[in-house]
Order: sequence, then C-alpha cells, then structure tokens
Amino acid sequence: MEIKWLHLKSFRNYQDQEVDFRPGLTILQGENGQGKTNILEGIYYLLTGKSYRVHREQELARWGENEFHLYGDFIVQRRKLRLESHYQDKRKIIKINQIPCRKLSEYVGTINVVFFSPDDLVMVKGGPAERRRFLDLHIAQHHSKHIQLLNAYNKVLQQKNALLKQGQGGSKSQIAQIELWNEQILRIGSEIIRNRWEFTGLLSRKAQDIYGQISSGKEELTMDYHALGKNNLEEALAAFPKLLAEKMSLEMERKMVLIGPHRDDILFKLNERSARLYGSQGQQRSIVLSTKLAELEVIRQEKGDYPLLLLDDVLSELDRFRRDYLLDYTKSLQQTIMTMTSGETLTQRASLLLKVEKGQIGRIE
Ligand SMILES: Nc1ncnc2c1ncn2[C@@H]1O[C@H](COP(=O)(O)OP(=O)(O)OP(=O)(O)O)[C@@H](O)[C@H]1O
Ligand SMILES: [Mg+2]
Repeated sequence: MEIKWLHLKSFRNYQDQEVDFRPGLTILQGENGQGKTNILEGIYYLLTGKSYRVHREQELARWGENEFHLYGDFIVQRRKLRLESHYQDKRKIIKINQIPCRKLSEYVGTINVVFFSPDDLVMVKGGPAERRRFLDLHIAQHHSKHIQLLNAYNKVLQQKNALLKQGQGGSKSQIAQIELWNEQILRIGSEIIRNRWEFTGLLSRKAQDIYGQISSGKEELTMDYHALGKNNLEEALAAFPKLLAEKMSLEMERKMVLIGPHRDDILFKLNERSARLYGSQGQQRSIVLSTKLAELEVIRQEKGDYPLLLLDDVLSELDRFRRDYLLDYTKSLQQTIMTMTSGETLTQRASLLLKVEKGQIGRIE
C-alpha cells in the first residue's frame, strides 16, 4: 500500500499542512523538535485509529486547540481510499471514503502499516509485558479475533483476581468458584498461547534470516516464545491444567493469578546469549528492526500487498554496513517513509526529500 497525500489540521505542531508523497523512499529531514515524528504519528493514527505515543487524543491536538483533523489518500491493492480521522467535541470520528465507520475493528487491519519507533527498543530492553504487548498488537493486525480473546481473558483475570483478594480463602465455595474461572483461563488462555506461538514461529524464522543479513552473517538471532515457562507448545498446553490445580493454594496465599499467558515472555538471543542482558545498543536496535521487517514480510505474504513502512530515527547507532543494508532493503518495497536529522548525508538515496522546519514542510530538489 501507498500514501499519496496527507493533510494535517491542528495536529501536534502542524496548523494546516498538506504533503504529497511518492512511491519509493521518502526522507523527512530536519533538526530536533521540528515535526518529523509528528508526521509519521499522523499517518499511523490515520491508519490504526490510535497513537503509539499517547492514550489521550487531546494531547494530539495543537496546543490551544480542542480538535484535530487528519485526511489521507492511500492506494490499497490498486484501489484509492480516502481516510479521515477527526477529533472534535471530545469525540473521535473515522471515515472511509467519506462514510463514517462505527467500530474501530471494522477499520483496523484494512490497511497495513509497520512502524519502527525508537520507543520500540523496549521490546528488547524492557520487561515481558512490553514484549507481550508487541506480540498481541501484531497478531491483532492479522486476526481481529485475537483482541476479543484478550479482552475476554482480561475480564476473567480481573474477576479471578478480585475473588482471590476476597476473604481468607480456602472455603469450599471459593474453591469451586476459582475452579470455574480456571476453566475459562484454560480455554481462552490456550487459544491465546496458540496464536502467540504460531505468530512468533512465523516471525522468528524471517527475523533470523534478516538479522543474519544485517549483521553480514556474523551473528545469529533467535526469538522464542515461552508459554507457562516452557519453550514447547505441546508441553505448555499439556501442563496448563495441572499447573492451575497445583498452584491454586499459592494463588490464594498471594491473592493473585499466577498461572496463564499474562505472564509469558519472548526471549531474544544473539549467538545464544540474552540480547536484553548482553546486546549492544546497535545490536538491540538491529533486533527490533529485523523483527519489524519480518512482520512486514509476514503481512505481505498474507495480504499479497506490501505494507507501508514508517521508520523513525532508525539509523542512529547502526554502522555503515547496517545502514546500507536497510536502505537497499527499502528498494524492494513499495513505499518507505523515514526520518533523519539534518547532519545525515544519506539523503541522495531518497526518491523524495522533504525538509521539516517548525511545523512546516518543504521540498528539497
Ligand atoms: N500538541 C502539540 N501542539 C503543539 N506542538 C506540539 C504538540 N505536541 C508536540 N509538539 C511539539 O512538536 C515538536 C516536534 O516534535 P517531533 O517529535 O515531531 O520532532 P522531531 O522533528 O521528530 O524531532 P527529533 O529529531 O528530536 O526526534 C516538539 O518540539 C514538540 O514540542
Ligand atoms: Mg523525532
């Protein structure tokens, strides 16, 4: 897919700005704090209905304003699509080809976008919750049912946690109720584990391949989903009911749910060693990048169309070989939009070079 045109009104530091895009590599160049990331954020918001940075729409509205409006023309599988996102009177309105769209789930996934943000480094550096969030978000882009599963699971989790917090525990009726919740945890949790397992498998083979190329074959990346502490799907699923029964008294003692996919993790390793503990900055960045590019390949295979690739400040900390690899890689894609600070000299590789200054965008020929 491709973006042809973007119009931002009262969005972040943009008052009223239109941008025309081209296929191939677009570079947004400018000094710090000028509005490069805000452009990518605007595109991402249009395509997904949310910002990856904030939870409150009001923060996206230009200071002193209570509303913002985004418009974009996209080409998706050779069809033209006009998307609009409006925030007005504290409400969000989304339109596709001028027709209001009620539920976000009708909309998310129609269009695909892969976004690399420096914030994504928490995927490697951060805790398991961040890694699960990454995985779930990406599964949801492919299978909207995964969101429903997660919502259902979280509800059960809340209820079971509330029950465990009540009273001293151990009464017959409490145990019977816990067992009822455990049935749900087992049923929904197993589906979540299967989805995550499948998706990690798909992603890890491609990420390994891409990482191999980025590091010119010097380093090997592995990415494993650990469900219920086990590195094997069948073993984890077989152990699940037993663990729920065995840990019931411990759960009652600690007054919290200890068993289930809400505690799972993904382990990234470089040459067999934990990338979180031992990876260098550039290596960790390369892992996130490889995972994102792997995701792009997965989406391309499933949808038969390349997703739009947005790369925010990706080049810093990458050596010359890795930068060249990335720039070469983007040649095989339909469209990539990348931000860069003003000192960078790689701009000749762009098919469109845009200068960003104080919330204004100009073309550099
Ligand atoms: N709601 C808002 N209204 C007005 N300005 C905002 C709003 N939110 C952020 N800004 C401003 O937008 C400016 C540009 O932010 P942005 O993150 O796009 O910069 P950038 O060009 O990506 O810089 P860097 O190279 O440091 O990443 C910031 O200086 C920030 O203060
Ligand atoms: Mg930025």
